[in-house]
Amino acid sequence: MSSSDINETLANIMARRSVRMYTDQDVSDGDIMTILSAANQAPSAHNNQSWRFVVVKGVKKGELVDLVSRRAGDFPRPSSTLLRMASRSIASSPVTIAVINTGELIRHGTELFDVDKDIAYDFFRTMEIQSSAAAVENMLIAATSLGISTVWLGILFLIKDDVLDLLGEKGEFMAVVPVGYASRQSSGPTKRPLEMIVKKVE
Ligand SMILES: Cc1cc2nc3c(=O)[nH]c(=O)nc-3n(C[C@H](O)[C@H](O)[C@H](O)COP(=O)(O)O)c2cc1C
Repeated sequence: MSSSDINETLANIMARRSVRMYTDQDVSDGDIMTILSAANQAPSAHNNQSWRFVVVKGVKKGELVDLVSRRAGDFPRPSSTLLRMASRSIASSPVTIAVINTGELIRHGTELFDVDKDIAYDFFRTMEIQSSAAAVENMLIAATSLGISTVWLGILFLIKDDVLDLLGEKGEFMAVVPVGYASRQSSGPTKRPLEMIVKKVE
């Protein structure tokens, strides 16, 4: 893609990088709401919008950091290392957003579609996760467009029940995303060339 082809949206998609350490600068409530509006604008299976966002700051964020670093010791490497890294990212961010699937689509899916119960569960759970993943990606791109950095932390799945308890949430753990201003920019890992991953059939 030549740089002359790049509009603002593409530029932000290309510029997004996982950043794991942040400066002390706070992220304004207005920017958090803009980021969450972008997330909420994502497509969702059956338009179920089966996501919830928990904005974690202050004392609660400190409790989340303690929980993640304490539970890290219960796991062998590399999980323990990744959990410790995640706790440091959350600690260094001024605000962290947790994304939770409500389970609404899974609950109502079997009523909406006349398919086998086991297939229905897999189908709607997958649709719900894919919908929330679209919301998380919107969040990351919106943050990038505001000059704000993020990292998608999936490793907290290992302690998902504890995380949900701490946040007072039911449903299914989806992601935890620290949000802040990068302490240093990262160029990130290179992506595979398209020739490796694209096949054309006609
Ligand atoms: C579903 C998912 C889970 C991830 N979980 C973690 C994680 O637990 N810890 C972490 O440091 N990065 C995590 N990442 C970020 C990836 O490591 C990162 O996206 C990848 O290395 C590519 O780098 P980039 O985001 O800078 O392009 C996750 C990304 C995704 C999409």
